[in-house]
Amino acid sequence: MLTCFLPLLLAPSCVSAVTQVPLSVDSDAYKWDIDRPPHPNATGHLIFDTISSLLQHWPNTKNYNGHSIVPGAIPAGTLLYHGRTDPEPPSGREWLALDPEFARIFCSREPIDEDPLPECWFLTLVTTRPVRVLYFDGTSAAKIPDGTIDAQDILSWGKVWPERSSFAWDYLRMNKLCDWAGVRNYSVRLYEQGTVSFSQLRAERLDPHRANSFLHASEWHDAFPGELRIKLDLSQLVSLYDTDLAPSLVEQRFNVSRAEHRLLGINQEDIDRVLARLGAIQDTPPSSKSGIDWLSLFQVIRDRYAKRLQVLQSTLKDASGSRAFHLVSTMLAPYTLDSAAPGNPGEDDNSWVLPIFKLCATTHTSFAATRVAFSTPSERLLLNAVQETLHEICRTLVMIYAEGEGGSVGKWKAEVDRLNNWLDWSEWLRCEPACSWDETCFLFGPPFAKKYWNLTAPRCIRAFPPYTFDAFE
Ligand SMILES: *[C@@H]1O[C@H](CO)[C@@H](O)[C@H](O)[C@H]1NC(C)=O
Ligand SMILES: *[C@@H]1O[C@H](CO)[C@@H](O)[C@H](O)[C@H]1NC(C)=O
Ligand SMILES: *[C@@H]1O[C@H](CO)[C@@H](O)[C@H](O)[C@H]1NC(C)=O
Repeated sequence: MLTCFLPLLLAPSCVSAVTQVPLSVDSDAYKWDIDRPPHPNATGHLIFDTISSLLQHWPNTKNYNGHSIVPGAIPAGTLLYHGRTDPEPPSGREWLALDPEFARIFCSREPIDEDPLPECWFLTLVTTRPVRVLYFDGTSAAKIPDGTIDAQDILSWGKVWPERSSFAWDYLRMNKLCDWAGVRNYSVRLYEQGTVSFSQLRAERLDPHRANSFLHASEWHDAFPGELRIKLDLSQLVSLYDTDLAPSLVEQRFNVSRAEHRLLGINQEDIDRVLARLGAIQDTPPSSKSGIDWLSLFQVIRDRYAKRLQVLQSTLKDASGSRAFHLVSTMLAPYTLDSAAPGNPGEDDNSWVLPIFKLCATTHTSFAATRVAFSTPSERLLLNAVQETLHEICRTLVMIYAEGEGGSVGKWKAEVDRLNNWLDWSEWLRCEPACSWDETCFLFGPPFAKKYWNLTAPRCIRAFPPYTFDAFE
């Protein structure tokens, strides 16, 4: 069980203040050492965050370079859209969008202000049976050299190739992806199935109305549950944060901020392993034998802690120790055993909180952990991710709880700041003050030009003229 718990612990030994003997990384005392922070190269929290953010626009803008490749299906009856400037229905492979506001962008072409305006031909398709797809997270539709298409590069070229990020390579990349998918029974022929309409729409400049409606449409899928029209099979997901699958990326990420993590620098051995894993994805998902609903499990953890950790962090900014202690004891209440109580006051020994720590860290996962034998490798990765994440949340909370109401507020603040930085949940990035009802809080990153990017400060944009945003100027 322990190998599954912390596969990344590389530190050979450490000394516990309690026992004063070197501890093995496998020992229970090491695992539950309240003073031991997470391993700097461990990725469980990153996997937890990326997987619980799949198909959501906001977190995938914040961390725009994708690290997950997940098989899924689009159910029958789902509408898909394609915009073009000529009246010829596509004869080959083409890009489709799930929202007409995105497809509408392609009814124009450079230069944007061409006169006369190009015609807008709009194709609406419907899936007539479930469509098998492969989902790439991050802002994977943005064709830029900064990392958004690294994961697609691995599949299309067999290497990360930023020089091929320009539009000139777009259709060749798509064809390579479709070639790969076509022989593996992914759905690459939609057009012949269900055409709802192919019509000429009124030509209109992108800027400002259509460009702004594009921004507002993104908001519909900003937060959990995100884009519901794609049903992902998490039991077969592939994560490039998986350090068994892609160990060469550990070094590439070292001392690099999260938003800049990418797949550039992955070695050939790891690429081969990733491709083999992708190639082994089963047609019909027979693989989840564990029965665990990972998506709900992850979301329960986020629901339980996202808001309260943010309130805790703000409370500590005001140096309010007794309010902070109250919040911590509220979060720990389901795990605060009557039998766990401090020994002698003033005694420098935290062992009395260990039962609370363990209960807090394992209650949500103990059943899933018994299912390891029935799980896929992807599910074991998910289990480890939620275990590592909970372990650190609970460790930080019990550290504060153990000190009691008169503890060091300065230390608590540093620990909660550290925890929240480490978790890096996108719920905490908001427009402050909140936007008005006729505005959308928007986070500017790819696919917009770099001069508009500001991934630390989202801003409110108006739904009506006078617009506050002019993306295509
Ligand atoms: C593709 O589907 C067909 C028909 O369902 C099946 O016989 C074949 O084994 C599948 N191929 C792959 C690679 O899964
Ligand atoms: C983390 O990874 C870096 C880069 O590979 C390595 O230099 C460092 O020693 C690792 N840290 C630990 C504590 O293992
Ligand atoms: C990189 O290392 C320097 C020096 O240790 C440190 O100050 C900085 O915060 C690190 N940056 C990141 C992104 O980890």
